[in-house]
Amino acid sequence: MKDLIKITEEFVKNELGGDSSGHDWHHIDRVRKNAQLIWSKEKQGDWFIIEMAALLHDIPDDKLNESEAAGWAKLDSFLQSIELDGETASKIKSCIETVSFKGGRSIELDSIEAEIVQDADRLDALGAIGIARTFAFGGKKGHPIYEPSLGVRGEMTLEEYRNGSSSSVNHFYEKLLKLKDKMNTPHAKQLAEERHRFMEAFLEQFYSEWNGKA
Ligand code: ADP
Ligand code: NI
Repeated sequence: MKDLIKITEEFVKNELGGDSSGHDWHHIDRVRKNAQLIWSKEKQGDWFIIEMAALLHDIPDDKLNESEAAGWAKLDSFLQSIELDGETASKIKSCIETVSFKGGRSIELDSIEAEIVQDADRLDALGAIGIARTFAFGGKKGHPIYEPSLGVRGEMTLEEYRNGSSSSVNHFYEKLLKLKDKMNTPHAKQLAEERHRFMEAFLEQFYSEWNGKA
């Protein structure tokens, strides 16, 4: 099992190494650490499945592939190359499917492994790390840090958002501040609440400095 982890780490480092949109190797490694933290408290789930799914969860992401289908094909061919048995491979894939489901839709989680990996990925979008990733992502997309005229606090329509009239600060209201209520496991919820409070404090200080207050 140890060798398979090493091989997978190498594969993922190679695939994601140069990404600067918040999906680099360090994101993957943090998601694995978050997953370990949650798993050690939950005392449920198969760690090998969780670790493999955490390592591979961003491989099929459409931001990193020509198409979603191309990403899934890449994941499939990797899982075949390491000769996992069919059942293990499909458990890992189903975890990753759950985690990569996007766009405000939600999917029924059918395993504790999927719940843990999803929580672990969401935790990395929160707190100090979440703040850093948000501004890094927004910068790469050419979004302003903050633009009062674009509206904040979820005031923007989906169309305005899709047209790129967005700011990184707006992303907190669109997504990040909603995540604490979407956690699956009790321990992740507790960690999410701490990180949530940190983001609220950050925003308060941000507006205060923006408005020229001490
Ligand atoms: P992941 O695939 O790791 O779950 P995403 O692909 O949704 O996360 O986003 C990667 C990072 O970029 C996250 O930290 C997220 O908050 C941030 N991000 C995503 N969309 C935006 C946006 N429109 N503006 C600013 N940051 C964003
Ligand atoms: Ni991720």
